Amino acid sequence: LTAELHQRDFEQLVICRDPEVGLESVIAVHDTTLGPSLGGVRMRRYPSRAAAVADAMDLAQAMTYKAALAGVPLGGGKSVINADSRVANRDEVLIAHAKYVAALNGRYIPALDMGTSVRDLELIGRHVPVVCAQRGDPSYFTARGVVRSIEVALEACGRSVAGSRVAIQGLGNVGLHVARMLCAAEVEVLAADIDPVRVHDAVDELGVTATDLADILFADADVLAPCAAGGVIDEHAVPRLRASALVGAANNMLTTPALARDLRERGIVHVPDFVANAGGLIAVEAELRDDESGLADRVDAIADTARDMVNRSERNGVDVVSAALSMATEIIEGNRKYRPWF
Ligand code: NAI
Repeated sequence: LTAELHQRDFEQLVICRDPEVGLESVIAVHDTTLGPSLGGVRMRRYPSRAAAVADAMDLAQAMTYKAALAGVPLGGGKSVINADSRVANRDEVLIAHAKYVAALNGRYIPALDMGTSVRDLELIGRHVPVVCAQRGDPSYFTARGVVRSIEVALEACGRSVAGSRVAIQGLGNVGLHVARMLCAAEVEVLAADIDPVRVHDAVDELGVTATDLADILFADADVLAPCAAGGVIDEHAVPRLRASALVGAANNMLTTPALARDLRERGIVHVPDFVANAGGLIAVEAELRDDESGLADRVDAIADTARDMVNRSERNGVDVVSAALSMATEIIEGNRKYRPWF
């Protein structure tokens, strides 16, 4: 583990235990060069302790890159509580975890994630110096950044926005906003959701074309926009994709970042999720500072980052994920000696 911390350049990893209440948790602080690390508190039962540590580290590292590319003064962190989120003494477990977070004195700012609610964050907030309780729903801004990224992808494919066709998997908080914005821009939207009511409502409200769940990923469209769960594009899916571009909100939509190379070889334009879906983080950071001025413009600037990244990938002959990571690393290294926050 120590070797991995060095190799992946982690600042801090805290393994927490409170046997009295049954707490087992991990706090991972990847990098605080740009600001205090922010990341969700995830609560779920992991198959092993090692799996919990690995998840916390992967998610914290991804937050560092997402924040750097989104231009927000935050670092990357994450914490995971290795317990079923329906555990009987839930509050006690959350408070025990919060006390470990408090010991970091603001280096890690807890936020919402899978298995935790606004109420949980409010409870944690009573014990820690800073918390991101996220009373506002950031989904609109997440969707707005996804739509800006779809526009960049269409531009790279030589297609205009109006008249193009986009296939959306998942019409939840983000997917429905994406569908609304695209329909308003005269895009033909194909959509699927495991919840038939959501599809029915979107057909009624927007006139989207309902598509079979099994077909949506391989629909004949200009852009495929996964906006449901992660891990939907694996090595078997890449050769079957018919869309010219892959841009969506779903976190970790590729089962492994290495698939970005396969997408490039197939000539599919790809804007990685951690670039396209950063609008939510930009909104959350604005809420944290209690200053939402210029928020929409800052979310729209995701288009500039996406465009730079696609151009860099072309110029250097590398896939977009590698291009994005090298851009993020340059931003972090460029600030290393100033350490504006530390
Ligand atoms: P949500 O839970 O509101 O919506 C997900 C939708 O996908 C639901 O309507 C669900 O029925 C549907 N769905 C689930 N499995 C499906 C499947 N196999 N096929 C078709 N539809 C399926 O979630 P939300 O907030 O819209 O987030 C969507 C994705 O974007 C998630 O991966 C999330 O991690 C990511 N994301 C969300 C942000 C936000 O601001 N809400 C910010 C950044 C990332």
